Amino acid sequence: MVVSVELDAREVEWRFARDQAIRAFAYNGEVPGPLIEAEVGDTIEVRLTNSLPQATTIHWHGVRVPADMDGTEAVQSPVEPGGVFEYRFVVPDAGTFWYHSHTNETEQLERGLYGGLIVRDPRDPAFDDERILVLDDLKLDDEGEIAPFGDEHEHHAGREGDVRLVNGVLEPELEMPAGTIERWRIVDAANTRFVRLSIGGRPFEIIGTDGGLVPQARAATEVLLTPGERFDLAVGPFEEGERMEIEALPYDRGKGESERERFATLRVGAADASRTEIPATLRQIDPLVEADAEPTRTISLKALMHEGHHQRADPVRVGECQVWELVNETGQDHPFHLHGFFFQVVQENGTTPPEIVWKDTVNVPRKTQTRIAWLPDDRPGEWMYHCHILEHHAMGMMAHFAVVP
Ligand code: C2O
Ligand code: CU
Repeated sequence: MVVSVELDAREVEWRFARDQAIRAFAYNGEVPGPLIEAEVGDTIEVRLTNSLPQATTIHWHGVRVPADMDGTEAVQSPVEPGGVFEYRFVVPDAGTFWYHSHTNETEQLERGLYGGLIVRDPRDPAFDDERILVLDDLKLDDEGEIAPFGDEHEHHAGREGDVRLVNGVLEPELEMPAGTIERWRIVDAANTRFVRLSIGGRPFEIIGTDGGLVPQARAATEVLLTPGERFDLAVGPFEEGERMEIEALPYDRGKGESERERFATLRVGAADASRTEIPATLRQIDPLVEADAEPTRTISLKALMHEGHHQRADPVRVGECQVWELVNETGQDHPFHLHGFFFQVVQENGTTPPEIVWKDTVNVPRKTQTRIAWLPDDRPGEWMYHCHILEHHAMGMMAHFAVVP
C-alpha cells in the first residue's frame, strides 16, 4: 500500500494550554504534526511544502530509508520558502519512529516541527488500546514567548524549559479504562531534556524500543528516555478511580540532579474487558557479534564535541560489520544517534547488557564508554551520526561518513 501524506510546514499560533500560546512552526498547523501510520512494507510518500520564512528538510528518525531520502543537507538541498520536496520510501521495520526537521533544528524542533510515525506488523501482539505520547519541553521568556536561541549556556548544557508537554499540550490529563492494558509508544522529542519516566511508580513492561519489539517484555517502574529515543510500554491494568502522575524522576546528566517533574496525569475510568495477553517471547534478535568483539573504530565524543563543524569520518563498506567504541570523557551524558541503521549495544562500560535490542539512539553516560555493533546493509550513500542534544549537534558534535558499495 502507498500511504500519501501532505505536510505543509508553516507558522501558526500554537495554543499549548488554555491561556498560553506561542508563535510556532508546525506541520499542517498541528504540534505534533499529523501521526503517520503504515504497515511494514508500505511505501510512504510525503509531499512537503515549505510555507515557513526559512529553509527546512525532514529526517525520518529511525526509518531505514535510502540515503537520498534521509533529509540531511548532505543528501538534499534544503527546501527554500515556497519550495516543495517529495520524500518516498518503503518502511521495512515495525516500530515507533518519528520525523522532524533537520535544518536549523534547535529552533525548528523547539517551535514544533516534529511528529510521530508508527509502522505496524500484522503479527504485533494485540493490546486493549494504544497511544503515542510525544514528550517535549519549551523554554519561554518572561513575556511567555519562545526564549531567544543560542546563548552561551545553551551551547554547552543544551536548551531545557520549564513547560512540559505531552502531544503538544501542557501537562494534560489522560484517561484509560480500569482493567485494561495499553501499548504506550513514547518518544522524547525535546531538544535536550532527559526523561526518567515513571507512571506513578507503578510497574509496567518494556516491550519495545527504537528498532521495534524487544525479545522479552521486561518489568520496570522507570525508564530513561534521552532526546531521540523511543520506548514502547505495556501499561496497566489499574483500578477505577486511581490517579497517578506521569513524571520525570530526578536524573543527573552531568548538570546536577534535576527536579521531579510532572508531564501528565493519568486518571483511571470505569472498567472495560481486557483481552490483552503479552506473549513470553515477542521476537527473536540474533547478536551481530560476540560480546567480547574488538572495536573496529573508536569514537571520542570529547573530540567530536570540540573539533567543530562538518567532520568527515572514514567510510564503511556494505556488508562489513562495524563495532564502534563510543568513549565519553566529557562531564555530561550524550545521546548518540546513528542515521539510517539500527545497532546493538554490545557493552555498556564493560558490562554486557541483559538482552540484545535494536537501537538508533543510545545514551553514553559521562565518563563511560558504550560499544555498539551494526551492519551497513545495501544502502550506500551519505550518512551521519551526532549527539541528539540538538544544541550539541548544532555546534558540530556530529560527523558525516559514506557507506560505500
Ligand atoms: Cu533525530 Cu539527525 O536526528
Ligand atoms: Cu551531547
